[in-house]
Amino acid sequence: MSMKIAVLASGNGSDLQSIIDGISSGSIEATEISCVISNKKNAYALERASKNDIEAIYVGEKAFTSSDAYNEEIVKILTKREIDLVVLAGYLKVLSPFFVRSFKGKIINIHPSLIPAFCGKGFYGMRVHEAVIEAGVETSGASVHFVDEGVDTGPIILQRTVQIAENETAESLAKKVLEIEHEILPEVVKLFSQGRIVFSNGEARINN
Ligand code: GRF
Repeated sequence: MSMKIAVLASGNGSDLQSIIDGISSGSIEATEISCVISNKKNAYALERASKNDIEAIYVGEKAFTSSDAYNEEIVKILTKREIDLVVLAGYLKVLSPFFVRSFKGKIINIHPSLIPAFCGKGFYGMRVHEAVIEAGVETSGASVHFVDEGVDTGPIILQRTVQIAENETAESLAKKVLEIEHEILPEVVKLFSQGRIVFSNGEARINN
């Protein structure tokens, strides 16, 4: 039986593309992307979905009276499609507690830093990399983690580091980190499809 995933994205969707590529190359088996959902009408992620015959769904926030109502709509869409795994790939909205509870242990996010450093409220996009450069640290990286009710606080599944060069800029670091993201995100999806990721007692474990 195939694992059904939904990808939520607000922007370019290069992380989404890494999963599409993983599936089409055969590296990720028994997995299909059932739909891509975005809160941004013009997100290139939606176009990538359509190009790959994946259902592309735009859910505009303005049509809803509250953030809770918006989240309930997304949960409805996911439930109807019997989604096994929700992947947040550059999705710039915090999920409501109802959303998180509805898909407990089935939602993952990719963050462009080594959590718990440079994450949480306000740390998104280039802001993350600017803060890393500003701090003068020697390494950064990317993290894939389970989503809980906090912001970037859920159990870490996989991380990979990058070295920061002497003349590194936020832009060059962003590029480096994105390359790493395109490795670890499909890797984690593959592990899920193999049933090798276990979420118990608030911790993530990878089984051999
Ligand atoms: C990535 O850096 C990811 O870590 C963050 O948003 C960015 C998404 O990039 N959450 P893309 O839209 O997938 O190209």
